[in-house]
Amino acid sequence: MQAKNQKIVVLGTGGTIAGESSSASEGLSYKAAQRGIDVLLQSVAEIGQGLPEALSGYQFESEQVAQLDSKDMDFATWYHLAQRCEAWLSQDDVAAVVITHGTDTLEETAYFLSRVIANEKPIVLTCAMRPANFKDADGPQNLRDALTLASVAKGAGVWMVAAGEIHHSQHVQKVHPTRLNAFDSGEAGLAGTVIQDQVTWRSEFAPVAQPNKIKLSHLPDPASWPWVEVIMNHVQASSKLVDLLINAGVRGIVLAGTGNGSVSTDLKEGLLRAQDAGVQIRVASRCNQGPVIVTASHIFPVLSGLSPVKSRVALILDMVSKPTD
Ligand code: SIN
Repeated sequence: MQAKNQKIVVLGTGGTIAGESSSASEGLSYKAAQRGIDVLLQSVAEIGQGLPEALSGYQFESEQVAQLDSKDMDFATWYHLAQRCEAWLSQDDVAAVVITHGTDTLEETAYFLSRVIANEKPIVLTCAMRPANFKDADGPQNLRDALTLASVAKGAGVWMVAAGEIHHSQHVQKVHPTRLNAFDSGEAGLAGTVIQDQVTWRSEFAPVAQPNKIKLSHLPDPASWPWVEVIMNHVQASSKLVDLLINAGVRGIVLAGTGNGSVSTDLKEGLLRAQDAGVQIRVASRCNQGPVIVTASHIFPVLSGLSPVKSRVALILDMVSKPTD
């Protein structure tokens, strides 16, 4: 049967999936973001007997939106990427968008897109832990799986797939610096798997409510987005850093609190001074699993269920959609 929406668009942003090392046996020391998205797309058909059955009837289009190591991802690139997603997804003949991205900040980009793209079609991010010219590069298979997932992931949502594992943008975190399955979704677990070109959704995976959407066109120029930092509570956490940040003009602080979002007495005093100075404070947990459960001891707003870096994205979007000054 001919697919109704016939095109899957693949947007390249760089990362290790587009990286090159000095030799096919060097997998850790390499330069990210070297190969174009058209070259990455070509590599997909080379790893199997042609394309997966699920992709028959689809055409593929690619666009290089950025070419960077995702440690250097920035607001301007996010905004541009979101605009390109919106533009492609609004076309009737486009079924889905796939994005290749570095692993290091993928979860932040995935969450950002989930907050600003309101289209009813899916976005699937993928990545790699090994550069493209490594002898056992994982990028081609991951991209193949992302295309397969994009063809069946009907409906809205931002997903990611790597090492055959499907994660939801709300839950996914990079949890390992080197292993191939470097991502985890904590207590929410995997949304599904892609094995041998077959997508299997986990029946236990709880549906994720669509997050509050902010219209991209309502966002101001990314150059004006507020400066928001993440700081961590730890043994003898001091407020000195907070005072330095206030003096330097920080506009928001996310506390990566200990346990259920707790904070040392001194750091709490600093955060109260920051709040008095007009700095927006939010609380998350430095624990990498489980939501913070709000109690009477939380004197700052809690962003339950979001990691500190995703809480930072949420706070920035909150501040730009509801300006505080
Ligand atoms: C990056 O995040 O761009 C480099 C690291 C990676 O993709 O694994």
